[in-house]
This record gives sequence, structure tokens and C-alpha cells, in this order.
Amino acid sequence: MAEKFDVKLEEGKYYLPDASYKERSWIGDYNRAYQEFLADPDGFWDRIARDLEWFQPWDRVKEWNYPYAKWFTNAKLNITHNCLDRHVNNQRRNKVAIMWRGETEGEEEVYTYRQLLQAVSQFANGLKSLGVGKGDRVCIYMPVVPEQIIAMLACARIGAVHTVVFGGFGVSALNQRIVGTDAKVVVTADFTYRRGKAIPLKNIVGEAVVNAPSVERIVVLRRDQEKPVELHPEMEVDFYELMEESDRECPAEVMDAEDPLFILYTSGTTGFPKGIVHTCGGYMVGTYYTTKYVFDIKDNDVYWCTADPGWITGHSYGVYGPLLNGATCLITEVTPDYPTNGTYWDIIQDYGVTIFYTAPTAIRMFMRVGEEWPNRYNLSSLRILGSVGEPLNPEAFEWFYHVIGKARCPVVDTWWQTETGMHMVTTMIGEPMRPGFAGKPIPGVVADVVDRNGNPVPPGTGGFLVVKEPWPSMMRTVWNDDERYRKYWYTIPGCYTTSDLAVKGTDGYIMILGRSDDLIVVAGHNIGTAEVESALVSHDAVAEAAVIGKPDPLKGNIIKAFVILKNGRVPGDKLKNDLVYHVRMTLGPIAMPSEIEFVDSLPKTRSGKIMRRVLKAQELGMDPGDISTLEE
Ligand code: PRX
Repeated sequence: MAEKFDVKLEEGKYYLPDASYKERSWIGDYNRAYQEFLADPDGFWDRIARDLEWFQPWDRVKEWNYPYAKWFTNAKLNITHNCLDRHVNNQRRNKVAIMWRGETEGEEEVYTYRQLLQAVSQFANGLKSLGVGKGDRVCIYMPVVPEQIIAMLACARIGAVHTVVFGGFGVSALNQRIVGTDAKVVVTADFTYRRGKAIPLKNIVGEAVVNAPSVERIVVLRRDQEKPVELHPEMEVDFYELMEESDRECPAEVMDAEDPLFILYTSGTTGFPKGIVHTCGGYMVGTYYTTKYVFDIKDNDVYWCTADPGWITGHSYGVYGPLLNGATCLITEVTPDYPTNGTYWDIIQDYGVTIFYTAPTAIRMFMRVGEEWPNRYNLSSLRILGSVGEPLNPEAFEWFYHVIGKARCPVVDTWWQTETGMHMVTTMIGEPMRPGFAGKPIPGVVADVVDRNGNPVPPGTGGFLVVKEPWPSMMRTVWNDDERYRKYWYTIPGCYTTSDLAVKGTDGYIMILGRSDDLIVVAGHNIGTAEVESALVSHDAVAEAAVIGKPDPLKGNIIKAFVILKNGRVPGDKLKNDLVYHVRMTLGPIAMPSEIEFVDSLPKTRSGKIMRRVLKAQELGMDPGDISTLEE
């Protein structure tokens, strides 16, 4: 691919934040920092890693044996020691670590670092009493409540590997992840509350463990105290009873830098989602560094990342990164449009949020409901704004920058992936911001836009976004499927393939154009065409199905499905609704098709592969490109 994109590259305007931002920033001058990194990459990471506490130092910063990297070899650590004990022992003991805000006004909880350490230690001991030990997998399927973070950190404390599953996933998606990791314990809650409705998570777990023989116990957080859900006497145990029976002190397990910390599933282009494996040492250093330097976090900041810890953004920038930096973090179960469209702005005003990290899909939703909503609130506490998950289009940038940031706050549009673990491309604080462009590789990252052979393409020419050198928080493998890991590094010679298309300006700024593969980014969430198609085909009326992403002004993309029915099945609205419901139950609400069209045939290659690109071109009235491999 080396086509010209119609991007008005050189006419773009820049916004320059007030000079005080740069003067006071951790990064200082971006170019200087980047040159320092290039001059001595290992020395750069060595310096950053020394900010943290290790039980034993490393022999070497990295060992690169293409495509496998080891970081901080033979070093010993525990990430929770750095997220908790380090602060408790060093003047942040009574600093607020987590503030949680529930859906109903007045419903809130606060944990200081001391309290969080205690709760994590107690729950860690509780997990031990259930027989969970180093290397065992624990599945966490919970709402956004402090106990979700406590469960994650408790696993890390004892060296168990957590797999957090987003609470919006359905039975079969949850079952796949439990079976895929052979999880020994599932931690869940009775309910999650969304827009005033109680969604029974525990019931979903009940169905999801039917064919999951590895599961020995289920821990249930019972939020509804008036009518507590019943627990199975042998299989299920109450979250707080488990904690209360346990000791308040739990020494942090000594972990090797390369031991796995967690597995997080992300959609693949074919079949089963991929369990991305992150390790203790490199992930800790990568998320610590980026939270500190990209968000320029300081001790008096009130930091709010709106992502659910069920996604990588929640892992890296909702939990680990900010806690490693000793930050005060806000978390909440609320949705941005409930009970009113002012909910988020109310929270920012109420808690005095200074750093606000959210997704373009939310920003576009706010744009649609109008600026009268944010204008009713005092947002003057805000200092830095962040965006992640999909391209922040220039219109959304302008709105975010002017209406929310009052042309005062830098906007960091952060490009990265589940696989990268940390921010990779953005505009560092103090540098000129360019609407529509994420920015440049951060110091520590070597990324470029290249052609199929790995050669850089000239400015203005579209190409593949790749990373050319290993970085500490890179995934180490795909759980039980190393072949899929190798593919990332062997698709384009010598490079890590991101599967994103991008274009670079003469100024070096990178604009992300979207995915080059069969992933659809819907409201910032990756959804594999294969997953939705197989969910549709599992309905007894469906013979074949193909899905595409269709551009949508609000969600970035919506899912459109083309369905061939089995003989004798009658198309109609009732069946369409049934199919949507079926996908919802199988995969969860995020994967529901917004449009379904019944068709008699699908465009295929001679070898029988569905050509989704042709369907998409037809749908959008565009030229389908090369169709020489099309069947007829
Ligand atoms: O296509 C890119 C898009 O999200 C993909 C990664 O998705 P996931 O692993 O779920 O992680 C999302 C949160 C990091 C990328 O391949 N993406 C992520 N951030 C941006 C983005 N696209 C454009 N601009 C971004 N800032």
C-alpha cells in the first residue's frame, strides 16, 4: 500500500500551550529528551527504572532476541510494592489513592494509600486461603468499584495472573476467557448498575462456568445488602467475609521481572480473541514512565481516567500507572449521559479534577448534546486533557480544546494498543498540538510510517504504522498461541506491525487513519469481524454472515451485518431483532450490529474468503479497488 491520502497536511494549524506548561513539565524539551534516548536507549530506561523500588536490581536493561525481548533481566520486584508500600512508607500514607463515585448522588467511597494497602493485603490472603498461588490465573468480572482494583492488586501481590473481563461482555465471551486461561477463581459481584438498572453479573458467571472445569471457587461482592443474593455453600464465597477472615498483612511475593502480571484479551482478526500477556517489570516501568511524563502528573493532581479497568486503558492508566505515581485517582461507575448529560462535568467540578482522560466517542456525544451542558459547571480545575482509543478528529479536538479546556489545557491524543501496554505516540506536554494528528513517538519509542517492506514512506503518503525497537511494556506473547505473537513481528520485516494505517507530515507529526485489518473500532472498542460473524452463524436461522464497520459520526464506526438465511427462514424485522439480541447475549452489548441486511450471496475470493472490503465499498458507494480475486 502506498497510496496518496487526501490529507491537507501542510495547511494544518497548531496550538501552543502556555510556556509555563513546558517549564514546569517533567519532560522539559521533547526534542532534547528524544535525542538523549536515541543516544543511549538502555541508559534512558535504566534511569527511569531507578525511580522505582526493586528487591534485586537487573543484570541487563534489555536482552533483544528478535522477536523476543526480556527487560530488566533477573531483577526482582512486586508491582504492588511500588503502587502501595512505597507510598505508605514515604509520606503518602494518608494521601487519597482512590475516590469512587457511584451512580446515585452521595454514593461514594474513599481509600487512602494505607487503607488500600490493607484491603489489598487482606484480599490477597483471602485468595491464598482459596488455594490461589503464584502463576495461577484469576478471572475478574466486576463493575467499576474499588473492589475491582483491590482484586487486581491482590492477584499481583501474590503473583497470581489476573484476567479482567469487561462487565459488558456476555456469557460466551466470558466463558471463552475463563476457559482460555484455565482460571482457578472468578471474582464477581451480584450486580453492576447502569443507567439506573441492575445488571446481574453473578448470573452471567453462573452460566459462563458451566463448561469451565478449571474454576474451583467464585468470590461474590454482594452490593445489595437488603436482599443479598444466595451463595452456593461450597462453590461461592462472599467478598468481605473472605477478607475479614484474613490477616491484614501480606508480604509482597518476590516476582521476576519477566514473570507474567496479567493476561488481557483483545479481538483478533480471525477466530478466538488473543490473550495478550504482560510481565511484571517492563510493564511497571512503561506505565510508570508514561503516566508521569505524558500526563505530567504531580502530587496535587486529581486524576480521572474514564475507562473501565476491563480494558487496557483502565489497566495502564486507571490502575497501575497512576498508583505507581502515587496519584489521587477518581473512578466511577456512572455513564456520561445518566442521570443527565452534565454528569461528567458535575463530577469534574465536584472533585476538582485536574487531569481528564477520555475517548473521542464520548467527546462526540458531548458535542452532540451541546456546550450548554459543560457551560453550566465550573471546569477551571482542569489542567490537562487526554484522549485515547480512536482518532480524535479535528472537530472533536477543537471542541474538547475550546469548550472543555477553554483554550488553556493541552490535549494529549495518545496512540497505543493493548499489545503495547503503554502510550507510544502523542504530543508531549508543552509541544505544539496539531488537531487531527496524534503527534510523534514519545522518548523511548522508535515508530514510523512504512510500506510493506518496512521502508519509510514520504510525508503525505499513507503507510503502515510500525514500531522498530522493543520497548519495556511490549507484550511478551499471546497466551497459549505464540505463533500469533510472532506474526506481529514477521508481517513487515524487522518491525512490530500495529495494523494501523497512518500518514506523516513533513513536521514528523503522525495522523492515525484507522485499521488495515478486519477489526472494527466501535466507540473505541476493538471488535473482530470474525467474532460477530460466528455469533450470528450460531443462530439457527443463519447460514452465513459478514460484518463490516460503517463510519458513524458518534461512535467512529457501527457494525453492519450482511446475513444469508437458511432455506425456509423468512426475513423480517422480528428476525432482525432476534439476531441482534442473540449477539448481545453471546458477546455482549458492545458487539451488537446496528444494521442487518438480508442478502442472497456474499462477495468471496476464489478460495472462499469473504471480501468485506467489497461489501464496505458497495455500502459507502466507493470504488472497491482490486477485485481480481473475486469469485465471479
Ligand atoms: O486502531 C488503533 C486505535 O485502537 C487500537 C488499539 O485498540 P486497543 O488494543 O483496544 O487499545 C485501545 C486503547 C489503547 C489501535 O490499533 N487507537 C488507540 N488509540 C488511538 C487509536 N487510533 C487513533 N488515535 C488514537 N489515539
